[in-house]
This record gives sequence, C-alpha cells and structure tokens, in this order.
Amino acid sequence: MSATNRQIRLAARPVGEVDPEDWEHCAGPVDEPGPGRFAGRTRAISLDPAMRGWLDDRPSYLPPVGIGEVMRAGSVIEVTASDHPDFQPGDHVVGTFGVQEYVVSDGRGAMKIDTSLAPPSTYLGALGMPGMTAYFGLLDVGALKDGETVVVSGAAGAVGTIAGQIAKAKGCRVVGIAGGPEKCAMLTDELGFDAAIDYRADDVRKALRRHAPDGIDVYFDNVGGDILDAALTRLAMHARVVVCGAISQYNNDTPVKGPSNYLSLLVRRARMEGFVVFDYADRYAQAARDIAAWIADGRIKVKEHIVQGSVDDFPETLQMLFRGENVGKLVLELV
Ligand SMILES: NC(=O)c1ccc[n+]([C@@H]2O[C@H](COP(=O)([O-])OP(=O)(O)OC[C@H]3O[C@@H](n4cnc5c(N)ncnc54)[C@H](OP(=O)(O)O)[C@@H]3O)[C@@H](O)[C@H]2O)c1
Repeated sequence: MSATNRQIRLAARPVGEVDPEDWEHCAGPVDEPGPGRFAGRTRAISLDPAMRGWLDDRPSYLPPVGIGEVMRAGSVIEVTASDHPDFQPGDHVVGTFGVQEYVVSDGRGAMKIDTSLAPPSTYLGALGMPGMTAYFGLLDVGALKDGETVVVSGAAGAVGTIAGQIAKAKGCRVVGIAGGPEKCAMLTDELGFDAAIDYRADDVRKALRRHAPDGIDVYFDNVGGDILDAALTRLAMHARVVVCGAISQYNNDTPVKGPSNYLSLLVRRARMEGFVVFDYADRYAQAARDIAAWIADGRIKVKEHIVQGSVDDFPETLQMLFRGENVGKLVLELV
C-alpha cells in the first residue's frame, strides 16, 4: 500500500465552467478498516454531468458537496482488507466512494460485482446508474410502446446510447441527436439508430421534420435548451417528454433557459415529466438483468470511453463531458 491517499476535494464553488483552481489535490492518510468495515483501492471512477450540479450550493435531490470535502463520485474499488462479513479481500465493489485512491466503508450503499461477467467500467455504465437511467426513463417515465417514434438527445453518451438501443430493442423508430459527424455515424452504423442529427451542423427542427414525419411519441431529453425547444415543436398526440437532464444548461451563470414552445404540450395533449434514477433503486436488479440479456444477445452494444490515469486527472477528465469529447460512458481508470 502506498503511504498516502491521493484525493480530490472541492476548494471553491465554481461560477460557470469549473476551473482547475476550484479543486484541491490532497494527500491524506491511508486508513485501516476498523470493526465492521472494509478497505479498498479505487480501480475506476465514474464521470457524470450531475457532478456539476453537486458543486452548487442550492437545493437538489442530493446535498451539495461541501467546501473541503472529497468530491462525490461513483466508483469501483477492490477490497484490500476487511472486518465486514459480506466483503472479502479481492472482491470488487461498486459504491459512492468519492474521488480518492483508497477507501474505507461500512458497506452501506455498496454492492459486490462480478468482474468475470463484465469489466468494472460497465458496472459504472450500462449495468450501472446510466443504464438504470435509460431503462426507467424510457420504459417507466416515457411509457414507451412498441413501434413508437423515439428521439434521444445526448444520444452518443452513456445514457443516450443505452436509451436509443433499448428503444430499438422494443421495435421503435429511433432518432438520435449528437454533436459531430463521427458520433452520428456511430449511432446509425454501429448502434442501429434509424437516423442521427448533428446538432452542431444541422437545423434540428428541420431535421426532426424529415426524420420524424409523423411526430415524436417519446422525446428522451438529456440536454435541454434549444434542442428541447426544437423537439417540442414536433410532438405527436399524447407524446411524453422525459426530462432526464439538461447538460447544455449546467455551466450557465445565467438562469436556465426554459422552453418557449411548451404550449405544444397543450395542443398535443402531451406530458413532460422529470425523474431521478435513485427512486427506482428497488428495481435495479430487474433492469440490470434485462440490460445484461440485451448485451448478451447483441441488441445492446456497450460504448465506453476509458481514460487511464490517476485521481489527479479527475478535473480535466470531467471537463470532457461538457466539451463533448466522450463517446459512451466516460470512466477514469486508475493505473
Ligand atoms: N435523471 C437522472 O436520474 C439522471 C441520471 C443520470 C444522468 N442524467 C442526465 O443524463 C444526461 C446524460 O448523462 P450521461 O452521463 O449519459 O453523459 P454523456 O451523455 O455521456 O456525456 C455528456 C454529453 O453531453 C453532450 N453535451 C455537452 N454539452 C452539450 C451542449 N451544450 N448541448 C448539447 N449536448 C451537449 C456531449 O455530447 P455531444 O458531443 O453530443 O454534444 C457530451 O458527450 C445528463 O444531462 C445527466 O445529467 C440524469
């Protein structure tokens, strides 16, 4: 074991984009597990757009990360020592362990994973929180029906790639919206989307008219802003707009841009509903079984973007999400 535990702590609340100075790179002691606890070494850290929201001091579905606290993050650790009956040295465990090299846990919220079935990164992606988000957002909140027309924004990301492929597995027509020709080609050529719209180059509203001529039954929104507004103009009767996220707004230092076309909800007798994936925790096991089965039969292809480095690479890696530099689930693998 190394003598120090490298950690990333929040130094200051960012205004707009996160600056390198908003983080403190620290070296703390490596703790012993103690009674009823286990200790482990971090193998892989999840990078999530929601992290930006956790840095703001405002009410949300989780309390903000405090100044001076280790940055909150989902991760996979390998147990090195244990006084906990359920976790043994060598076990891989997923949980919210933070951006640090070494972890001590009492096991609350932690789950043992089988890395012979899938690598640690996949338990942070398709079989983890983003996969659960796609599944419940689409099937429960979106109340998806076979054969409907589904549009997914942020389609080439962790949640978007899975949401689009679940919709395809359910026999839907699926249109993805993503940034750049490579991502769009990946969606149609590799992942089986019926069409893809490059929001950086195309007029999204016109492209939606072309690719969803009968209107959108389910719009799965990961980005908010102008793209949400464009999608609202193309809703089918009784459409469902799933508010999963709004990454285009997370770095704003001005108020969030709300949709100006919301009256189409009235005209189309549609509904728009937000959700937080944690509310579905008691059904994760079923969702993971379904997604694993779709991966096994080839209906879901797993896309992961793995950056290898140390915890000190966390701040720069997080920025990749906001620059659109990731394809699929972004994970920092500690080497
Ligand atoms: N409700 C929930 O419980 C829940 C749970 C998990 C995640 N989420 C939300 O789901 C969304 C996707 O999360 P993820 O983990 O799958 O991230 P991700 O899609 O893997 O990564 C973020 C992607 O967002 C796109 N993006 C960044 N800035 C943008 C902008 N200004 N306009 C349009 N697109 C932009 C980029 O792709 P392009 O190259 O295509 O721009 C980037 O690759 C986020 O909004 C997140 O907050 C919600």
